[in-house]
Amino acid sequence: MPTGQDGLARTGSLLADPRWDELDRMRTQSPMYDAVIDEIDNRYIRINDDWLIDFASCNYLGFDLDPEIMGAIDEQVRRWGTHPSWSRLLGNPRLYPEIEERLTELLAAPDALVLPTVTLIHMSVVPVLVGGGTVFLDSQAHKTIYDACAYARGLGATMHRFTTGDIGHLEELLRDSPAHGARLVCMDGVNSMTGNPSDLSGFARVCREYDALLYVDDAHGFGVIGERRPDETSAYGARGNAIVRHAGETYDNVILVGAFSKAYSSLLAFIALPTRLKSLLKVAAPPYLYSGPSPTASLATVLAGFDVNEDRGDALRADLHRMSARILSHIRGLGVTTPNTSGTPIVELQLTPERDLADVARTLWRRGVYVTLAPYPMVPRDQVGFRVQITAAHTDTQIGQLNDTLTELAARGDLRRTIPHQRNTD
Ligand SMILES: Cc1ncc(COP(=O)(O)O)c(C=O)c1O
Repeated sequence: MPTGQDGLARTGSLLADPRWDELDRMRTQSPMYDAVIDEIDNRYIRINDDWLIDFASCNYLGFDLDPEIMGAIDEQVRRWGTHPSWSRLLGNPRLYPEIEERLTELLAAPDALVLPTVTLIHMSVVPVLVGGGTVFLDSQAHKTIYDACAYARGLGATMHRFTTGDIGHLEELLRDSPAHGARLVCMDGVNSMTGNPSDLSGFARVCREYDALLYVDDAHGFGVIGERRPDETSAYGARGNAIVRHAGETYDNVILVGAFSKAYSSLLAFIALPTRLKSLLKVAAPPYLYSGPSPTASLATVLAGFDVNEDRGDALRADLHRMSARILSHIRGLGVTTPNTSGTPIVELQLTPERDLADVARTLWRRGVYVTLAPYPMVPRDQVGFRVQITAAHTDTQIGQLNDTLTELAARGDLRRTIPHQRNTD
């Protein structure tokens, strides 16, 4: 049998792909890539001997460090054991209906179904919803939605991609598609890289007009953005009940998917949907019967998270908004570009063409700043850079340290500018 390098059979073409050389270089040259974290202390992390401020965490509300939420685990684990290892169809600890009822109320949705992860939801639900029909996918939708659509295509669906955010392009594709069969439009809510929410109302309107179902992944919006109210504490809105409520929309023809693994710091995800569809998915979407459930600790922290969200969520979001605004206004002041025009706590910075990400990562490390790197081929070459995420558990001192580091990188010309530097032609 032919054996490729590393003793793997039939992987020659994969291992020979030069795109992986760049990732190998990141792996060997940047300790920020595939790191092992030895210890945490609030929003500091220790890797070997270095303490760094963690700007790579998605724990937007700081629930991972909240004593009230941590304190909720012990009692439930003693009551239910560490893990309810029935699949959900075989047995649901009472914690599950409690979560689904509270979530339905929070979202003001018709009903809600929870499963362990968003990836599992996409992979199992998208093929069921589209069947042999047509799926229309936003060109910048999250990789997990793309994979689910590709899987649905393998099972017989037709797949089209529309230019991100371009309602006109989607409308054209819908107009030209066959009238028979299901039509499913898939996109992100708050985009995980740009931080910007999609135009939910605009897309919902077109979907309703063309009898298509809009399927929105708001993993990053849930817990951060919510319903707009006169007494809201920030432009994120109130209650963190996600993009549909934030846009003042209804759930007519809209399926909302969200994650507790980001703002709520738990291993659980949800789909907001009509009750009849929920009953159907319990048998038609494999994970409800064939996959294991989330651990008890996650169920306990979700329930405690609902309480904290009601009591203190809007105060936490006000703080999160203020710190995010401080960073975004600093970036604008530096003349550096970021796609984030919405003020959410996800700030992507792209490098000036030809700058070396490993080199930039070394500077960030020396300044004690830990970020999510976006190397090629994980992103297209012209989008290479890094992403910073802010959480309510950061401090103003930490935000100041990040801003100083960005000033240094901008002064060195590492960060892409809003108006490119004039090239010296002398
Ligand atoms: C937009 C989006 N969707 C889905 C996922 C995957 O979520 P999960 O870890 O729950 O599968 C992520 C990232 O973690 C994400 O950012």
